[in-house]
Amino acid sequence: MCGIVAYSGKKDCVDFLMNGLRLLEYRGYDSAGIAVVNPIGDIEIRKECGMLHMLEKSLSNGPLQGKTGIAHTRWATHGKPTQNNAHPHLSQDKKICIVHNGIIENHDVLRHELKNAGIHFISETDTEVIPHLIARYLSQGMSMKNAFMKTLSRLEGAFAIAMIAKDTPGTIYAARKGSPLIAGFKDNEVFLASDASPFITRTREVLYLDEGDVLIFNGTSSRLFNVSSGRNKKIRTTRLNIKNLSIGLGGHESYTHKEIHEQPEILKRIIRLRLGNNRNAFQMCFNDLKIPDDFFRSIDRIYITGCGTAYHAGYIGKYYFEEFMDLPVEVMLSSEFRYAKPKLNKNNLVIAISQSGETADTLASILEAKKHGSTVLSVVNVLNSSIDRESHGVVYTHAGPEIGVASTKALTSQVITLLLLSIHIAQIRKEFKRKQKNPLLKEIFHLPSKVVKVLQAEKHIRSCALKYHLATSALYLGRHLNFPVAMEGALKNKEISYMHAEGYAAGEMKHGPIALINKALPVICICTASKTYEKMISNIKEVEAREGIIISLATEGDEQVKSFSHEVIYIPETAEELSPILNVIVLQMLAYYFAKHKGNQIDKPRNLAKSVTVE
Ligand code: AGP
Repeated sequence: MCGIVAYSGKKDCVDFLMNGLRLLEYRGYDSAGIAVVNPIGDIEIRKECGMLHMLEKSLSNGPLQGKTGIAHTRWATHGKPTQNNAHPHLSQDKKICIVHNGIIENHDVLRHELKNAGIHFISETDTEVIPHLIARYLSQGMSMKNAFMKTLSRLEGAFAIAMIAKDTPGTIYAARKGSPLIAGFKDNEVFLASDASPFITRTREVLYLDEGDVLIFNGTSSRLFNVSSGRNKKIRTTRLNIKNLSIGLGGHESYTHKEIHEQPEILKRIIRLRLGNNRNAFQMCFNDLKIPDDFFRSIDRIYITGCGTAYHAGYIGKYYFEEFMDLPVEVMLSSEFRYAKPKLNKNNLVIAISQSGETADTLASILEAKKHGSTVLSVVNVLNSSIDRESHGVVYTHAGPEIGVASTKALTSQVITLLLLSIHIAQIRKEFKRKQKNPLLKEIFHLPSKVVKVLQAEKHIRSCALKYHLATSALYLGRHLNFPVAMEGALKNKEISYMHAEGYAAGEMKHGPIALINKALPVICICTASKTYEKMISNIKEVEAREGIIISLATEGDEQVKSFSHEVIYIPETAEELSPILNVIVLQMLAYYFAKHKGNQIDKPRNLAKSVTVE
């Protein structure tokens, strides 16, 4: 969701800001804008509705120059994606200019107050109250810093803000509460961005702004304050210890395609990291998990929470934890977590799952769990993200940057991590029967090569998708571990091919969705070898009897499923616990080719944002 880039220093910043916006494109947006303090000291803005090339065009018609500037990609929440609603937003006197990510929940009250004071609003956004409020405090005689701080103290909701001001031309102001903002420092330059990618090639000395932090850089030095106390804080930078973010397509036609194909390597990396190289004497390694073993021995309940794909990964994880441990495990959507009032206590472990580490609902669930004294362990891809920093313990999924908005490698890296984590915790609790489960551990080492085999079915999946891509709806059925896989397959389909799809527990079909089945409905049936295989066969027969189009996922050599399916996609034989990983990759490819045959823009589906930083 909304991306922020900002700069203040000795160099012209327009190219840097535009490149930065390009690197944040994956977050999702529908308009973009840029503002600088120009060489004669005025604030100049360009903003456009639509993709970045519209803004580039506007800049080539009217180039900008400036050494202090802010830029933004907007994902519309309050107000349509129009040029007026695009950021940056100016105060009425055109002296204060800001970009904002988040939602100002009390904007109505503030707007009313400002309107009564004679302010004329240009946009429908919640954001526009901010520059007007700052300007109002300035007109009452406050210093720039105090007007900025005073305004922040009046804002309810979430924000990451960057501001420039005509009267302090070389100074940049930034603040964070609930939405991500990172500062980078180099000599007499300051960089700001929603993630480090825009400035990673310029500096690795970074400050992750904490809740309530206000950073002011005046061209030579930076100061950090806490917005509530107003007190000065010491700036403690950390050195980013990562390679330049690999963001190229590497010969693939899209990021989503690239990320689907990265999965064997990522799984191999995670398995090696957690289990070592010795297949006969594996040693579980979770050094990143900073929660004492004693706590795991004392837990009496586990909650797992996440949104979208991460929720589906968590749902699969629930089955792992329940299989290896004698503990109740509940999986809850993060957006429902607080309202469902889970009976949280200090003996509960709350596992929060998030690729981006910035999802507002997941973050809110973590804060709720902490409030009740529960211990939070997060399964996160992005290091130093808000969820990483708010959790008691973190297990990283090491999937590398995921640019495609539809999660693919994020899911499989989360699922394998949850499987290994559940075994690790079960071992600590002495509940994991090593002998009995050794075949599973051995099979885990074969997983990457089996994923390679699944990816070889791409051509077949592509032609299967060609036959059915114009269907208006699809039903995905699975049982037990593969029920969340059915939900994930349907989610992928909806997200990128815009085909209506439902993921159902196959046993539930006869309680309602069976009414939908007719000759035109593709029903994707996950029927690989499992404890529920026979039951799944019965459910597919119910589809057959109603003439639905049966597209099955079956284990290699299964002739029975083939005999009543319109299409079969074969999966290599594997342990049941690993089947979700192989099956979901087939469903990722199926959705991918449904979307491709329809000519959709796959990496950036309409209306979606990669990182959902509003509740
Ligand atoms: C899935 O394809 C989507 N990108 C979405 O459902 C995503 O999984 C969800 O928004 C959670 O994101 P997170 O993992 O970054 O928290």
